[in-house]
Amino acid sequence: MELHHDKHHQAYVTNLNKALEATAAATAAGKFHDAAAQFSAIRFNGGGHINHSLFWEGLSPASSPDAQPSAAPKLLAAINNTWGSLDQFKSVFGTALLGIQGSGWGWLVKEPVTNQLRIVTLANQEAVVQGDTPLIGVDMWEHAYYLQYLNGKAAYVENIWKVINWKTAEARYTESREDAFKVLKVNI
Ligand SMILES: [Fe+2]
Repeated sequence: MELHHDKHHQAYVTNLNKALEATAAATAAGKFHDAAAQFSAIRFNGGGHINHSLFWEGLSPASSPDAQPSAAPKLLAAINNTWGSLDQFKSVFGTALLGIQGSGWGWLVKEPVTNQLRIVTLANQEAVVQGDTPLIGVDMWEHAYYLQYLNGKAAYVENIWKVINWKTAEARYTESREDAFKVLKVNI
């Protein structure tokens, strides 16, 4: 996780900053075609920064009370209402995570307006920025698990539940969508 944070996440931040600076310089020079050429890098690296920022805040040491589902009573009730039980939710979520082809992310999100829970998977570094509130996110890039689990992707998905921060998930569920993204103000 240290390598993941200090090298992988840092690379997204570094490359996002480069792309933003290049965009600003091109815009200032009136070279809008050069500015537009940066959009793909901004989307990819900006998504990487958003996703990883949410991911770190969503993890907890396994020994912490925050790693217990009981730290999220309201979210747990909603999960039970939606999937019948926490185990059933984990099973459905796990299937979705393992079904991602290539690199991507899986999220438990709260839909706007209805507040319904939903599982979404997104490719590469596409970010949950379409209106849903991200509650629990799992990084399914190989760099997230390969050092510890090698090709044991299923074991990573099973064990990630030991370090999910349910307190964070509860706060994201009960507070506003804006609150859920406040984590992005954290600098690395
Ligand atoms: Fe990652």
